[in-house]
Amino acid sequence: MNFHLRIWRQEHADALGSFQEIEAHDIPGEASFLEMLDIVNNRLIQAHMIPVAFDSDCREGICGTCSMVINGIPQGPGRGAACQVYMRSFLEDSTITIEPFRVKAFPIIKDLVVMRSAYDRIIEAGGFITEHTGGAPDAAITLIDKKIADHAMDAAACIGCGACAAACPNSSAMLFVGAKVTHLSLLPQGQPERAERVRSMVNAMDSEGLGNCSNYYACEAVCPANISASVIATLNREFLKSQIRP
Ligand code: SF4
Ligand code: FES
Repeated sequence: MNFHLRIWRQEHADALGSFQEIEAHDIPGEASFLEMLDIVNNRLIQAHMIPVAFDSDCREGICGTCSMVINGIPQGPGRGAACQVYMRSFLEDSTITIEPFRVKAFPIIKDLVVMRSAYDRIIEAGGFITEHTGGAPDAAITLIDKKIADHAMDAAACIGCGACAAACPNSSAMLFVGAKVTHLSLLPQGQPERAERVRSMVNAMDSEGLGNCSNYYACEAVCPANISASVIATLNREFLKSQIRP
């Protein structure tokens, strides 16, 4: 397959970026989007040109590092991460625009690579438990209602990719924070820090300059982990309760 690529090129964080037009010829339809970029980069290197910088790790939708915007959609078309997009889903000879996430809290480092450590700092603020959970026998005697366990695990599927903030006109991280708070507040192991967790994580989110939810639902539409926007309602409820709990 052949494609006409418009790729954001930016030498470093303080440089002015612009789109570079690159022709991508003879790309197998079964290639993933990142494999297509690998092919393009190999050709750029052979032509003594600078390859396009982009992030990746697992390449199977679980690590959340392949943050990029494809044709205006954070993580690209479909419901997976950018690494799970396949070239056969684009029309032959079409133009594909590839940009980094545009979020002030995620500064661009180079080309398509952004620094998403704002999300790491939010997790450091409270997205953990300190309870000693023991081994497998302890887990087996800590009974949790199946519906609650399923709900907690659905929220735990968040891979921290940042697409929610990139899609939101307010750059809100509330889907991400809501997923973490929902996951831990539902489980017995998450109870000791329950009130402190939501206060600290919301404060960290605010201090990173990430905005608030105004019900656009763009985050839910692009989330590769299918996190439901209902976690934002849970986040709001937990935050409210944390104000009256000791
Ligand atoms: S909520 Fe979804 S879009 Fe946001 S960080 Fe988690 S996986 Fe990514
Ligand atoms: S490279 Fe890990 S989610 Fe895409």
